[in-house]
Amino acid sequence: MTNNNFTWWKHGVIYQIYPRSYMDTNNDGIGDLPGITSRLDYLKWLGVDAIWISPCFKSPMDDFGYDVADYRDIDPMFGTMDDFDDLLAAAHERDLKVILDFVPNHSSHEHPWFQESRSSRDNPKADWYTWRDAKPDGSPPNNWVAVFGGSAWEWDETRQQYYLHMFLKEQPDLNWRNPEVKAEMLDTIRFWMAKGVDGFRVDVAHFCMKDPELRDNPVNENRETFFKDKGAWDSLHHVNDSGHEDIHQLFREFRQVFDEFEHISPRYSIGEIHLEDTEEWGTYYGNDDELHMPFNFKLLSADWNAAAVRSVVDEMEAVVPAHGWPNAVLGNHDEPRIAARYGVENARLAAMLLLTLRGTPTMYYGDELGMPDTHIPADKQQDPWGLRVPGLDLGRDPERTPMQWDDSKYAGFSEAEPWLPVGADLETYNVLAQKADDASTLNFYRTLLQLRKDEAALHAGDYTPLDVATDNVYVYERHTANDKLIVALNFANEARDVALPVSGSVLLSSHPDSSLDGKTLRLAANAGCIIKT
Ligand code: NOJ
Repeated sequence: MTNNNFTWWKHGVIYQIYPRSYMDTNNDGIGDLPGITSRLDYLKWLGVDAIWISPCFKSPMDDFGYDVADYRDIDPMFGTMDDFDDLLAAAHERDLKVILDFVPNHSSHEHPWFQESRSSRDNPKADWYTWRDAKPDGSPPNNWVAVFGGSAWEWDETRQQYYLHMFLKEQPDLNWRNPEVKAEMLDTIRFWMAKGVDGFRVDVAHFCMKDPELRDNPVNENRETFFKDKGAWDSLHHVNDSGHEDIHQLFREFRQVFDEFEHISPRYSIGEIHLEDTEEWGTYYGNDDELHMPFNFKLLSADWNAAAVRSVVDEMEAVVPAHGWPNAVLGNHDEPRIAARYGVENARLAAMLLLTLRGTPTMYYGDELGMPDTHIPADKQQDPWGLRVPGLDLGRDPERTPMQWDDSKYAGFSEAEPWLPVGADLETYNVLAQKADDASTLNFYRTLLQLRKDEAALHAGDYTPLDVATDNVYVYERHTANDKLIVALNFANEARDVALPVSGSVLLSSHPDSSLDGKTLRLAANAGCIIKT
C-alpha cells in the first residue's frame, strides 16, 4: 500500500499532450517525441507539474495509437526509444513528471499476439483474446455493441469464430482472465516504471473485466444518454460488457506493481472510468489499494450553470473516500474543447474552476490559449469514430488539431502540412502572441497556476461550498488550518453582485472589471475572482 504523503500527483497539475499534434520536428506533419522535448521549457514556464502523453507506442494508427502493436516500443512516427529516454531525462531535469497511457483492454489487430491467436484454435496464444463460437444461426455470441458502432463481434474465417472488440474491429479485446495475459501486461507496466516513468493513465480501465459468461446487456428502453447520443451504444445498459466486480481485484494487482516502485519515487495511476452513477464511480478508489483514482469526467457533462456545476462537485466530494483524492478535467482528446463547449467568453471562468477545485486538475494542451475547436472539412476528417458512425457528430478531430505556437502558416507546429488543419483564429490563439500580452488567456493560466502553487489552501485545502443569494454564481471556500480563500464564479452572461460572508482582498480576477467593495463582490459577466479573507 502506498503511503499517504502529500505527493506530486496530489498537489500538482497534469497537462495532457496528444503527441500527434504537439510539435513536429521531422516535418512529416505529425508531432513527435523530440518535439515534446523541445517544448518542455514552455511547459515549465507555464507552470504545470506533469505531462500525460497519449499513446506513443508502435501502432498502425487505426485509432491513432489507442491500438497498440508493441507495448514496449515507440512508434517510428513519434521517434525512437532513445528519443523517449531523452524526453524522460529532460523532463526530470526540469522536475516535470511523465505519465504514459496504458491501453490494456485491447491491442491492435496487428499485434503479433493477435496474429498468433487468430491463426488457429489451439496455438499458444489462442486464448489471449476473447473468442466465441457463433450462435446456431450464425449470429454473434451476444448482443454487445462496439463503442465505435456496430456489433462488438467480428467473424474470423480462419478460426471460424467471432472475436470481441469493444472499439474498432482493428482493436481486439485482450482476455484479462488469462493469467499469461495478465502477467505479460503487468510486466509491461514494470518495464516503463523501471525506466523512471512516473505514472500511467489507464485507458477504459474498467472494460478489462467483463461478465465471465458474456451474457447479453439489458436493453436501454428509455435511451437516456450519459454524455452525448452515441447511437447504438446507447441502446443497451452496459452492465455485462465492462466493470465486472472482478475488476477491483485486477486493479489491486495493478496497484501492487506501481507500489513496487514507490520506494524509488511516488508513482501514479488514474483510470479512464466513465460511469453515470457517482457512487459506483467512488468505489473505484478501493481501499487505497486500487488505481490511485478514477478520472472524474462529471464536469464535462454538467450544464454550464452555477447550480449544475456545484451539484456535480458536491456529489463527487461526497463519494471520494477519506483516503482518496479528487480530480477534475474539463477537456481531453475525446471531447469538444472548453471554448467550444461553453463559448470562448467562458474560457477563463472554466480555467478558474478547474484550477481551484480540490483535487488534481488535468489540463488539455491548447486550452491554456482558450483555443476553440477547429472545423474539419469532410475531406480532411481522420477520426474513425466520426467516419464510422456518421450523422451524430462524434468525430474527435476538432479538438485534436495542431498546437498553435505562432501565427505562421502551420502555427509553428511543423513546416509541412499538418495531419489535421490548423485552427482558424491563429492570430489570436497562439503562444507567441499571448506570451507577449499580459492580459492574454495564456498569462492568466500561468498566473493561476502560480497562485495554485503558492497557496496551500488551493493545492491542499478543504472545500466548502457557500450558499449565496445571487443567482448563477458559484462560491466556495478553500481552506487550511491557517488560510482561507473564497472562489466566486459568475456563470451568468451579465455582471452580478454577490454578498460575501466576510471581506478580503482580491488575489486574482479573471476580468479587469470585477471589483470588491467591503463584502460586496461585483463580478463581470462570465468572470471569477479568488479572494483572500
Ligand atoms: C478511450 C480513449 O480516450 C479514446 O481516445 C480511444 O479511442 C478509446 N479509449 C479506445 O482506446
